[in-house]
Amino acid sequence: MRSLAELDVEGKRVLVRVDFNVPLQTGPDGARQVADDTRIIAALPTIERLRSRGARIVLVSHLGRPKGQDPQLSMAPVAARLSQLLGSPVKQAGAVVGEQALAMSEALAPGEVMLLENVRFEPGETKNDQELAHALAELADAYVNDAFGAAHRAHASTEGVAHLLPHAAGLLLQREVNVLGEILKDPHRPLVAVIGGAKVADKIGVIDRFLQMADVVIVGGAMAFPFLAAGGHQVGASLCDAEDVEHARRLLERAQSLEGATFELPVDIVIADSFSAEAQRRELDGVEVPDGWMGLDIGQRTAARYGELIAGAGTVFWNGPMGAFELPPFAAGTKAVAQAVARCKGVTVVGGGDSAAALAQFGLEDAVDHLSTGGGATLELVEGRELPGVVALDGAGVR
Ligand code: 3PG
Repeated sequence: MRSLAELDVEGKRVLVRVDFNVPLQTGPDGARQVADDTRIIAALPTIERLRSRGARIVLVSHLGRPKGQDPQLSMAPVAARLSQLLGSPVKQAGAVVGEQALAMSEALAPGEVMLLENVRFEPGETKNDQELAHALAELADAYVNDAFGAAHRAHASTEGVAHLLPHAAGLLLQREVNVLGEILKDPHRPLVAVIGGAKVADKIGVIDRFLQMADVVIVGGAMAFPFLAAGGHQVGASLCDAEDVEHARRLLERAQSLEGATFELPVDIVIADSFSAEAQRRELDGVEVPDGWMGLDIGQRTAARYGELIAGAGTVFWNGPMGAFELPPFAAGTKAVAQAVARCKGVTVVGGGDSAAALAQFGLEDAVDHLSTGGGATLELVEGRELPGVVALDGAGVR
């Protein structure tokens, strides 16, 4: 990948693809506002570096998954937050491409920043449409991709446009790829993978990869139940569909046949009679969930065991919570894992929005070595898949 330092940007208009796909909320005045600015903050080093080198910056991002123009998903609240963080105005194009955006890009002074409207308002974006890629390329003299979180998408703003302009990786994208690449290539051992969250189907590739290359694979969260069901346990009303049980069964068979990583499942769990903070709560000494009850957290013995394994790790990769941590009575297991990861002396890498939110909830977001801004992109990279947005930056330049 060409680095930012290698790109000539002085006085040039630089189109920077960022991942400002951030959660929004309605503020007290009824206006939409940014609820979590982690991804905006993560893009600041690249923006600041480009400003200090006299670039004229045209930012582009998607926000949500709009079907055409959707005022609820306008970039306006993002521009407002970015402007606060930069301490200077961010001009809003009000459109993705077209005459007005072009005129605004041409009028930018060195160091000035403008933000295009949500690129997914254009139907060509997700189709990697050449016409849209060309229209985006017209807005700039060079292209920087810093949107690691969207690098698994072959879209016009993440892939197509890279072939049309001199290009480089942004600092965030570069760091994400380097850190994740390093733990996969040459991890400090033991490598402990902690995988949680809801669906086995979403993480089959990741679990499979870690079964081959990690020393320990720890599973928690709702996705433990398909594994427990496949092992013949009762799961009651826990989240657990037949398809996931099949995936889990195959992964368990692989875990046995590979003789690679040891595979850890919960040995005790916390159950509830409904998915609510007010639900009746019971701590089971085991994993057999009675009918009408659902597992919402790992139990104390499991949390202690997982904590010990994490404490002894040379590298930890954590993706996905251990339970319904957003409900206080069921947060203890995720908190114990978050604390163990934070205390671990090895290299600690955390990926995925839910794990990041859990770390933030427990005030531990600064206690890990690398907090990835990617969800799907992180998982795909860890699975060993090529990310189109990254591959496009390896090209020889202008096609
Ligand atoms: C994400 O939030 O994971 C990225 O911004 C990608 O969003 P998408 O899944 O809508 O492409």
